[in-house]
Amino acid sequence: MALRVGIIGCGGAGGEHARAYGKLGSRVELVGVCDIDAGRAERLATASGTRPHAAVRDLLDEGRPDLVSVCTAEYHHVQPVLDALAAGSHVLCEKPMAHTVADARRMVTAASAAGRVLGIDYNYRHMPAFRALRAEITAGALGQVLLAQITAHAFCYHHALDLVRFLFGEVVEVASWVDDVQARRNFPWTTPEEFLYVPSVSATALLRMRGGATVTLAASRLRSLEDTLLDVEVVGERGRIALRGLPVGDTRPRRVECWPGDPAAAERLGEARAGQPPFSLSAAFSASIAAFVTALEAGQPVPTEGRDGVAALVLDQAVVQAHRLGTVVRLGG
Ligand SMILES: NC(=O)c1ccc[n+]([C@@H]2O[C@H](COP(=O)([O-])OP(=O)(O)OC[C@H]3O[C@@H](n4cnc5c(N)ncnc54)[C@H](O)[C@@H]3O)[C@@H](O)[C@H]2O)c1
Repeated sequence: MALRVGIIGCGGAGGEHARAYGKLGSRVELVGVCDIDAGRAERLATASGTRPHAAVRDLLDEGRPDLVSVCTAEYHHVQPVLDALAAGSHVLCEKPMAHTVADARRMVTAASAAGRVLGIDYNYRHMPAFRALRAEITAGALGQVLLAQITAHAFCYHHALDLVRFLFGEVVEVASWVDDVQARRNFPWTTPEEFLYVPSVSATALLRMRGGATVTLAASRLRSLEDTLLDVEVVGERGRIALRGLPVGDTRPRRVECWPGDPAAAERLGEARAGQPPFSLSAAFSASIAAFVTALEAGQPVPTEGRDGVAALVLDQAVVQAHRLGTVVRLGG
């Protein structure tokens, strides 16, 4: 039986989710989309052959979805997620899952009380380059990881916080320096009170991993998305891998560096080659959503759960606190 799916929030991310579900064919039936902006709901419903709704309640009552994608902006995630869970739907929520850690934890508690799955869409984990890099690390190609550097465009900062956990495990200590200018923030509602979410001039964090590795994460809005979403260099006791130049239109690295030399490594790590298809950000949405649906169908753990969303927010909060207090913040790890 097809999974009945609804989408709340019909902006850019809602459109990506609709296209991604569309690629799953008969495994999924898109039963409705919802936006408080009626025109947006109408346009996405027409494009994806489903019904538009202006109220979350109507989508839940009339569509009776098994699964709801919540694609509102982050400060509007909480209520639709709680409503969908209370109606008995599983939820795939866009990142970052909430605007406070307390709200994020409330969402996780609600999912477990409802006995439903709450997943967070960390689609960068589904980019082939990062999957391959993780496989190399896990297979021990570099030996024990000693240090890593991630440089990111501010738009990818939240994904970078999640990738740190995906690639290197849990963070136990955080030191940071943040140079924040509110006027340079692209979203006026983001304020550096609890989270940076999208840093402005620069956010530089020094992260100590539970395994002992040190990771430097530097993000700025002044970087160019056309050059790279984010670059990663990992140094282990036996080798080094760097992925450089993953532009927004094609997330395959333009350059892979490996030491010691391994002629097959660049191909394994998905270095962009002429004549081979690009892997866009849209493709990452599709891969992430396909993996989520496959896990739900199989009754398996989904790739990234609510607790991963909480962990990324706690990390973001620790970066802010470490800078503000001028101290090292210790996390439970
Ligand atoms: N994973 C990724 O790579 C990625 C990329 C882009 C955006 N995002 C995330 O997706 C989310 C949405 O981003 P966007 O750029 O599509 O935002 P957007 O502002 O373009 O769209 C959000 C839509 O939600 C609607 N909305 C707000 N409250 C609502 C409610 N209660 N009920 C129904 N509709 C409501 C708004 O009217 C708007 O149309 C954000 O959390 C963002 O961070 C993720």
